[in-house]
Amino acid sequence: MKLAVVGLGYAGLCTAACFARKFEVVGIDVDSGRVSQLDRGKVPIHENGLSALLKSGMARGNLTFSEDYSRTRGASVILIAVGTPSNPDGAIDLSQVTNAAALIGRQLARSKNKPLVVIKSTVIPGTATTVVKPLLERESGKSCGAGFGLCSSPEFLREGKAIEDTLRPDRIVIGPLDEMSGRAMKSLYRRFYSPKSPPMVETTPENAELIKYASNAFLATKISFINFIARICETLPGADVGEIAFGMGLDPRIGRQYLEAGPGFGGACLPKDSRALRAFALQRGLDGSLLRSVMEINDTQPDRIVFAVERALGGISGKVIAILGVAFKEESDDVRESRAIVLAKRLLGKGAELRITDPEAIEGARRELGKNANYYEQPLDCIDGADAAIVMAAWGEFKKLKPQDFVRLMRTPLLFDARSIYDSKDYRAGALKFMAIGRGDLA
Ligand code: UGA
Repeated sequence: MKLAVVGLGYAGLCTAACFARKFEVVGIDVDSGRVSQLDRGKVPIHENGLSALLKSGMARGNLTFSEDYSRTRGASVILIAVGTPSNPDGAIDLSQVTNAAALIGRQLARSKNKPLVVIKSTVIPGTATTVVKPLLERESGKSCGAGFGLCSSPEFLREGKAIEDTLRPDRIVIGPLDEMSGRAMKSLYRRFYSPKSPPMVETTPENAELIKYASNAFLATKISFINFIARICETLPGADVGEIAFGMGLDPRIGRQYLEAGPGFGGACLPKDSRALRAFALQRGLDGSLLRSVMEINDTQPDRIVFAVERALGGISGKVIAILGVAFKEESDDVRESRAIVLAKRLLGKGAELRITDPEAIEGARRELGKNANYYEQPLDCIDGADAAIVMAAWGEFKKLKPQDFVRLMRTPLLFDARSIYDSKDYRAGALKFMAIGRGDLA
């Protein structure tokens, strides 16, 4: 079976690499730089296990890359995995999807087979039926269901765990536009996941599209909820948000995941999708205040760290502040909408001298902050001589730092653990001033 994956960002590249274990895959992207980099065996993103999969797929001749959309013509399944960024008003920008659909449609016009086109990108409900289908039909001169198949099947993979999530997903969601497309989609997944398929939800394309948005907005809501509880804890001596999350999470109706209080959610998906779902609701005359509050809590969470450090240091101007972790979460090199970048900009605005360390995201931080910060490979070098250190991503490297490292090296040993990676019992010892999110006795 031959597959084409259009769009070689996180989702597309990981999907292409995983599918190449069983099928022949061509990855297509309009970015010629990215294609030639991949051709040379260079992996443009940091993702656990991706490099090995790409190498083995390419070595077996199962995985190739191209800028040329005519390569979609031999494929029996064409997966669209291009980006869907935000417009300034928060609404979704579908231009990459429409561009890809038009180019695929033009190839379909000259194609002899009846491929299945699958929308993997996160798209607003109605996109498959009212945007992609008419475009493919117009450009190809063929009708959906007869000349080609179409299905919405959103992706639920997490950065840092993308390979694992693709190979062992919790569920597969399928929203075909017609019966033939549903059959073809299920058959692809069954072949790929054989002998044991994950649970499959087959529904309308609109439901499939909304399941994706609702899932991401719900995860965002859970995080802002626990950050709200963290704020309450900070006013309550004896309270600890970690204990509260643990106690809540044992209730299976609530669950333990996504209840880690911290600097807020970042990345390319949760913020963007929460904004897009809110904009979609507003366009339909609905009240968007639930998601507005979720975003407001998220937007102001870094400020709370700034204020706490400012209070403890008696001002920020001229102070040397070390940020440990700039990726939007550990195990990633992605700084998109990272709370650490927001924090860094706020600290710079108050006249701080910034130092930054991260095992994978220094390049991304440099793009965002340029010469306004100093960058360090080693966490110990980064905190050496600093007035405050703030942990913004839960990298294993930072967990190894001991209280005495901070006391020994820092000018004023003040540690703000925004990811709760340290046990306060050990880190409150001696000269180290230790602060964390959501602790009444640490505020
Ligand atoms: C998210 C979803 O989890 C995936 O299911 C989805 O497929 C993906 O978006 C997407 O739409 O493509 P991802 O952006 O990789 O995945 O990030 P998450 O692991 O969900 O984390 C998002 C942010 O929330 C991070 O900044 C993380 O540190 C933060 N977070 C997460 C918390 O602050 N607390 C938590 O308890 C969990």
